[in-house]
Amino acid sequence: MRRLEGRSALITGAARGLGRAFAEAYVAEGARVAIADINLDGAKAAAADIGPAAYAVHLDVTRQDSIDAAMAEVVASAGGIDILINNAALFDLAPIPEITRASYERLFAINVAGTLFTLQAAARQMIAQGRGGKIINMASQAGRRGEALVAVYCATKAAVISLTQSAGLNLIGHGINVNAIAPGVVDGEHWDGVDALFARHEGLKPGEKKAAVGAAVPIGRMATPADLTGMAVFLASAEADYIVAQTYNVDGGNWMS
Ligand SMILES: NC(=O)c1ccc[n+]([C@@H]2O[C@H](COP(=O)([O-])OP(=O)(O)OC[C@H]3O[C@@H](n4cnc5c(N)ncnc54)[C@H](O)[C@@H]3O)[C@@H](O)[C@H]2O)c1
Repeated sequence: MRRLEGRSALITGAARGLGRAFAEAYVAEGARVAIADINLDGAKAAAADIGPAAYAVHLDVTRQDSIDAAMAEVVASAGGIDILINNAALFDLAPIPEITRASYERLFAINVAGTLFTLQAAARQMIAQGRGGKIINMASQAGRRGEALVAVYCATKAAVISLTQSAGLNLIGHGINVNAIAPGVVDGEHWDGVDALFARHEGLKPGEKKAAVGAAVPIGRMATPADLTGMAVFLASAEADYIVAQTYNVDGGNWMS
C-alpha cells in the first residue's frame, strides 16, 4: 500500500527545487498533487513531467485572493485537501547597514505571511471536511541561528518555526498535524542564486561559497532535493499522526536541537 494513496496535496512553490521533488515523491506514494507556483509556466512544465496525478495551479502566496482561488481550484479538482506543504520562499542577503525595507517586506510577505495565510486557508478547508490533515512548513537551519549577512531571511525562518509551534497546538484538536522541516544547504537553482549573492558581498569567485558550505556539512556534501523527500512523505503520512508542532532538521548533521 502506498503511503499517501488517494490523498489530495497542495505544494506551494513547487515549479522547481524542493517543492518539485516533494510533488514527485507524493505522486509516487499515490497522492494527487497541485503544483502551485507564481511561475505558472514552470508549474505546468513540472506537472507535465510528473504525470497525470500532478496539475498546475497559479498561486501568489502574498495575495489573499490568489490563496483563496488556488484552494478553491484544489477542492474542485481533487474533492478536498489533505496535505499542504508551505514551501514557497524567497532568499536575500545584505549587511545590516544595507538592508532595504523593500527586501524586508517582500521576504516577510512570502516567507511568513504567505506561510500563515496559506496554512489558514488549508486549515479552514480541512476543518470543514472533518477528516483532519497534515501541514508541513519549510523552515531552515537559518531559523535556528542568525547569520551575519542573512538577518532578514533568518528572521523569517525563525518565525516559520514559531508559527509551526502555535498552529500545531491550535489545530491538533481538529486532527490536523502541523510540523516543519529545517533543511541545511540543498544544491539547486536556489543555492546558485545564494552563491552569487555571497560572491558579491564577500568578494568570492562563483561557486566558492557553495564548495565551502558543502565541505563544512558533517556528512561531507550539500543535500540534493531527494535527501529531503523521505521526511516530507513521512510527515504527510499516517505514521506521523502523533507528531505535533515539531521542526525536524534534515541537514547532514549541521544542527542539533
Ligand atoms: N535550497 C536550500 O538550500 C534550502 C535550505 C533551507 C531551507 N530551504 C527552504 O526550502 C523551501 C524550498 O527551497 P528551494 O531551494 O526549493 O527554493 P527555490 O527558490 O528553488 O523555489 C522556490 C519556488 O517558490 C516560488 N515562489 C516564489 N515566490 C512565490 C510566491 N509569491 N507565491 C508562490 N510561489 C512563489 C518560485 O517560483 C519557485 O518555484 C523554501 O522554503 C526554502 O526557504 C531551502
